[in-house]
Amino acid sequence: MKKPFWIALTVLMLSGLFLAACGGGSSKPTIVRKDPPAEYAGKTNPYTGDQAAIDEGKALYTQNCESCHGTAGLGDGPAGAALDPHPGNLQQASKDASEAYLFWVVNEGGAAAGRSASMASYKGILTEDEIWKILAYVKTLK
Ligand code: HEC
Repeated sequence: MKKPFWIALTVLMLSGLFLAACGGGSSKPTIVRKDPPAEYAGKTNPYTGDQAAIDEGKALYTQNCESCHGTAGLGDGPAGAALDPHPGNLQQASKDASEAYLFWVVNEGGAAAGRSASMASYKGILTEDEIWKILAYVKTLK
């Protein structure tokens, strides 16, 4: 009597396995970024283009982020070398992800956003303003 349910479940599980197997073969894993929750959605950086804020952001970046994400934000800092996944390339992330997403990950940490827990939550360590200043600086990295 419950047969159709089991057949559907089996088909679902098999297709999941199939997809997982295919994903493993690609050389460059694509980053999956979830949409930020409602309280972050649509937030934009109040400091974009504000040079004094960007200078402050640079100093904060050097202290808090550079060890893992690298001087130019390429994800090649010495403290990140042994981490799997590697720290993200923030130059690329600034192009691909929304400001709201970047702010969410830094404020709440990687785990909250379905990313690596090696990316810590900076809530309580940096103020929201400080995080925005860092992100305004990161945006200028080339
Ligand atoms: C201990 C090492 C470490 C430090 C320090 C660190 N991060 Fe990260 N960060 C990571 C790792 C590892 C990831 C990748 C997570 C993943 O791919 O699952 C990451 C991911 C990110 C992402 C998401 C990138 C993307 O492509 O979506 C942002 C944004 C980010 N970090 C910003 C920062 C900022 C800003 C700071 C400083 C306030 C910082 N991180 C400090 C390790 C670190």
